[in-house]
Amino acid sequence: MKDIDIESYFKPDLKKARKRSRGTTEEVRFDLADAHEQIGLGKTYLIQTYGCQGNEADGETMAGILEMMGFTPAQDEMDSDLIIINTCAIRENAENRIWGELGRLKAYKRKNPDLMLALAGCMPQEEYVVERVLKTYHHVDLVFGTHNIYKLPEYIATAMFAKEKVVEVYSQEGGIIENLPKVRSHRFKAWVNIMFGCDEFCTYCIVPYTRGKERSRSKDEILAEVHELVKEGYQEITLLGQNVNAYGKDFKDKDYTFGDLLSDLDKTGIARIRFMTSHPHDLDQKTMRAMAEGGHIMPFFHLPVQSGSDKILKKMNRHYTKESYLAVLNQLKQTVPGIAVTTDIIVGFPGETEADFEDTLDLVERAGFDGAFTFVFSKREGTPAATYDDDTPLARKKERLQLLNEKINAAYLAGSKRFLGQTVKVLVDGVSKYDDQVLAGYSEHNKLVNFKGDSALIGQIVDVKITTAKTWFLLGETV
Ligand code: SAH
Ligand code: SF4
Ligand code: F3S
Repeated sequence: MKDIDIESYFKPDLKKARKRSRGTTEEVRFDLADAHEQIGLGKTYLIQTYGCQGNEADGETMAGILEMMGFTPAQDEMDSDLIIINTCAIRENAENRIWGELGRLKAYKRKNPDLMLALAGCMPQEEYVVERVLKTYHHVDLVFGTHNIYKLPEYIATAMFAKEKVVEVYSQEGGIIENLPKVRSHRFKAWVNIMFGCDEFCTYCIVPYTRGKERSRSKDEILAEVHELVKEGYQEITLLGQNVNAYGKDFKDKDYTFGDLLSDLDKTGIARIRFMTSHPHDLDQKTMRAMAEGGHIMPFFHLPVQSGSDKILKKMNRHYTKESYLAVLNQLKQTVPGIAVTTDIIVGFPGETEADFEDTLDLVERAGFDGAFTFVFSKREGTPAATYDDDTPLARKKERLQLLNEKINAAYLAGSKRFLGQTVKVLVDGVSKYDDQVLAGYSEHNKLVNFKGDSALIGQIVDVKITTAKTWFLLGETV
């Protein structure tokens, strides 16, 4: 493959990525050009996805496009003609895994020079990543970002026929692309994008730069997708967005927000509705009411708090305080009785003192979370927090994480125990990883439940009486 001048590539620019335009979002419909319809015939592909559910949904779109072009799924790396690494940039260790993976794949490329290797997702949206790939990872043929997945056919054609390296990353928002094909990875649970991007700019976070401005899909497109899923026999949808509570706030011609969407989706006949993720400061009454009234909206809420210290929350640009978060949480629990709430917490944000950390522990004690994802702060180049003074040694940050996790594990156990003796509804996912006599699935409150049963129950919602509560799962028997 011939290389062209590095400067001539369409590379990312974090400063541009920070800009937000006020114009209306352009909606484009995907259409595969006739010339691209058969270029994948006889060829196989493999997509390795890292990161959040948004990235998993993107991976399903890439698979959909490739299969329209004639590609078929590969058995493994050895058997692949095209490998796409769909990357995540959220923390340094997420990126380090991917650099390792890229290095490892070099050997496959040596064995099979026709193998096409592509880097996609959030990492290519970072300037330093594209520089590094161009300078040291010469075996990568194709680099594209989160805004131009729909151009995959064109890129593959160029890489295959012109034998040219393709690097094209757009830094400014991008519109909304509809009519994209998807190969869904699950038979009865589906991801449904309701919005893209994020305008929150939490000071530690790279996502507003990698995913562009907040833009909502039209309600009609979302409802049409869900009606189709119901027809195809899907049982559960998870609505996706970086901040689903901001859904519709960008509509200029109508007043239609997340609560309205939930109420409308509740009437589609889908058995279960979930969503990810919410920002506490955009969570409104309408959403809580829709959850209380909507029979198909699951009593589960992931509501990231990040810290319990008002000083740190301010430095993070989160727009709420410890007490106002707890007030919203209380209201949610009162409006939707029994709701399970989980959260995300970062320890060791620059300037976090022992007292700030104590505030976080205190918040966890008072919140009654059902669980949490916890992280040590990771410096992301280009974000404001990367420039903040940080004098806490990493070892102390790790100790804080350990202390926090002890509390969180106790919260998981308490969250499990509240279901002892109750009968819960479980959507059966499959057989347990550890015992093929045992089925595994999730309850309405998003608890993992294991029980003995026939594999014919996979894909169905069954009543299970809980007999044992463990920290990470529940055990039960069918009733
Ligand atoms: N949009 C979602 C998810 C963001 S990423 C939200 O706002 O909740 C998921 C989690 O990763 C965040 O909630 C945060 O806890 C964590 N995270 C994001 N950036 C991070 C960083 N630089 N260092 C450590 N954790 C981070
Ligand atoms: Fe990142 Fe904050 Fe946006 Fe979540 S809300 S994606 S943490 S900037
Ligand atoms: Fe990672 Fe991008 Fe999602 S950074 S968490 S894959 S939005």
